[in-house]
Amino acid sequence: MTASIDFGVLFGASGRHLAGWRFPGGNAGAELDVDEAIRLAQRYEGAGFSALFVADVVSIWGEHLDSLSRTTRASYFEPITLLSTLAAVTERIGLVATATTSYNEPFTIARKFASLDHISQGRAGWNVVTSVVPLEAANFGRDAHYGHAERYARATEFVDAVQGLWDTVADDAFPRDKESGIYLDRAGRRALNYRGEHLATAGPLNISRPPQGHPVIFQAGASDTGRAFAARYGEVIFAGPRSLEEARTYRAALDEALRAEGRTHDDVRVWPGLTPIIGSTHEEAARLRDQLNDLLHDDVLRRVIQDNVGDVDFSDFDLDAPLPELPESNRSKSRAASILSLAREEGLTLRQLGVRWAGGGVVGTPEEIADHIQEWVQAGVADGFNLAFPYLPDSADVFIDTVLPELERRGIWRPHYGATLRDTLGLPRPDLTIAQLQEASAS
Ligand SMILES: Cc1cc2nc3c(=O)[nH]c(=O)nc-3n(C[C@H](O)[C@H](O)[C@H](O)COP(=O)(O)O)c2cc1C
Repeated sequence: MTASIDFGVLFGASGRHLAGWRFPGGNAGAELDVDEAIRLAQRYEGAGFSALFVADVVSIWGEHLDSLSRTTRASYFEPITLLSTLAAVTERIGLVATATTSYNEPFTIARKFASLDHISQGRAGWNVVTSVVPLEAANFGRDAHYGHAERYARATEFVDAVQGLWDTVADDAFPRDKESGIYLDRAGRRALNYRGEHLATAGPLNISRPPQGHPVIFQAGASDTGRAFAARYGEVIFAGPRSLEEARTYRAALDEALRAEGRTHDDVRVWPGLTPIIGSTHEEAARLRDQLNDLLHDDVLRRVIQDNVGDVDFSDFDLDAPLPELPESNRSKSRAASILSLAREEGLTLRQLGVRWAGGGVVGTPEEIADHIQEWVQAGVADGFNLAFPYLPDSADVFIDTVLPELERRGIWRPHYGATLRDTLGLPRPDLTIAQLQEASAS
């Protein structure tokens, strides 16, 4: 049997398109509807998607309430809490939660993801982010967010510490032997005593080793610093190239960064994002895209760009003029660069840019969407895709019912769940026996 690509799906009950909730049949009010979340998770698992991915920001998404009051981003579940619920009503699908290294402590994160991995019997993944929304800082006692370099330096220590904590307990540390009365073999657990420049934690962890050894690390760094970080730790990498050419450039740069870390192309899975807008004809799909985009309010168009490129107030910017020159911001460097180059290359007005960013996607028939997927897979730039359905539940249903069978017919994709998320993705498990732990402690 040929290898299959994987599909992750951005999990949010209202869809990726910022006006998707307003669309006829769109899931307005569903973002906190746990029954709908369960229904969707089970639908995605039934379809054979490899993982659910829950994004997160530890504040409201923006300061501009005129814009925020027009999207479902005003209210959302904390990811690990949501995924713990979904773990209990699914059996195979991976559960990937976003957690920031800027506003957490390694011990809390190591413990929570170990718990999620146990609750789900080996299906947890951690999307490691460093935070990009300035409001997050104030929720954690800081006047301003860490600078880009500093937050990645902290993130490096953070992931070392979390993985170190998962390695404070051997796989066979718990004999739970009624006869001898030994529950935990003391030789199977040791302290970590991690002390870095930015953080410190002693350990050991107060839970047995995660079923996967380490929950799977997801990452999306794309700037030079971010890509180096992704190459060091990432096992699945979310990428956001706008074209096949950009995807090729990105993959080549990532492979080089992987080599610098002593890793190879095959050590990571790269999943570009994909928002499919599907119609029974190309024209119908384009009409659907236009209908969705017509529902985007001017405030949303202005802010979706402002919130990604800078710390400058866009209130007085003319939506129908090109984007003015902007100072460098402390947000996502790669995302800002991508938006700015799109604007300049195609000479877009702020309105056109906002529409592209808030509502962009691949538009076409099921065959055309399958062609796009096939082209990227065959070019060697995608091991899977991170799907973000524009509105729910209908656009997910259309993809599942029309594109998946086409991909299966072409031999590109098939349902292929393993016992754990690592197995599903073909990633090795880091084993750690008591003997290995003792050897490591001695050296
Ligand atoms: C698919 C995808 C999902 C992301 N999800 C989140 C998220 O949930 N929270 C967050 O703060 N950043 C998120 N990011 C942003 C990344 O963490 C990162 O900041 C971004 O990719 C840019 O990296 P850079 O700092 O190297 O420019 C996401 C990025 C991508 C491509």
